[in-house]
Amino acid sequence: MTAATYPVDMSVTPNVKAFFDSATNTISYVVKDPDSKACAVVDSVMDIDYAAGRITYDHADAIIDYIKQNGLKLEWLIETHVHADHLSAAPYIQSKLGGKLGIGDKITVVQDTFGKVFNEGTDFQRDGSQFDRLFQDGDTYEIGGLKAFAMYTPGHTPACMVHVIGDAAFVGDTLFMPDGGSARADFPGGDAATLYDSIQKVLSLPDGMRLFMCHDYGPNGRDIKWETTVGEEKAHNIHVGGGKTKEEFVKFRQERDAQLDMPKLIIPSLQVNMRAGKLPKEDESGKRFLKVPVNGL
Ligand SMILES: [Fe+2]
Repeated sequence: MTAATYPVDMSVTPNVKAFFDSATNTISYVVKDPDSKACAVVDSVMDIDYAAGRITYDHADAIIDYIKQNGLKLEWLIETHVHADHLSAAPYIQSKLGGKLGIGDKITVVQDTFGKVFNEGTDFQRDGSQFDRLFQDGDTYEIGGLKAFAMYTPGHTPACMVHVIGDAAFVGDTLFMPDGGSARADFPGGDAATLYDSIQKVLSLPDGMRLFMCHDYGPNGRDIKWETTVGEEKAHNIHVGGGKTKEEFVKFRQERDAQLDMPKLIIPSLQVNMRAGKLPKEDESGKRFLKVPVNGL
């Protein structure tokens, strides 16, 4: 794979509004073109009470209300990757406000992997056709007059992409805040060495680039935070900052990942998010079901 050249433009500062979901420690964003009413939503959350099998939309409705109240026009719904810890609300928001739904083109790899895990039939398409746009490395798109591009950052999952919009980068699960380190790399298709290389790509962006996290868990009891910069991460990230080597990172990451429990919502999240946030089709009774693969993950 030849490295793409990325059209970085630090002269443009989009407005970024964050929405924190305390149930899953996910941060969703509305990113607005400073010169128009155009906006994008990055990594929205659909609420689930998994024990009750109940889905609701409070978090997504807050985003929809914000967009409506500010008279914004939703042009894009971006998923940085197939999340394993929360369900995407992108189709719900799209049904209310329009916009195109995009994810990395390696979604096909993720769909193939989890299509098998969940023994999905042939009606589950593994070609990414549930999305409106499949981004390749370096692909550009526009939010009004705002130029954005997608950057391959596999490692946490094979389909991870960081989206760079002016001086703001939405890093998904490549990086956490400097005191949080990095995301796990042990899901099927994940790889710690690949994640290290992807993080280096992010850290090669300009020092002043604002970085927006997908998750924060408030380590050591601090308040939840989601914004930092490339310069801060390079200097202080506890897993990769201060010039940590790939070997050090891989050893640490693998040892740490071996001790982590599966995310509480991984089973419903994967089944829904590999379908672009849509629930499985109704069965003959008109009801929808999620599966639990026994000893399958
Ligand atoms: Fe993730």
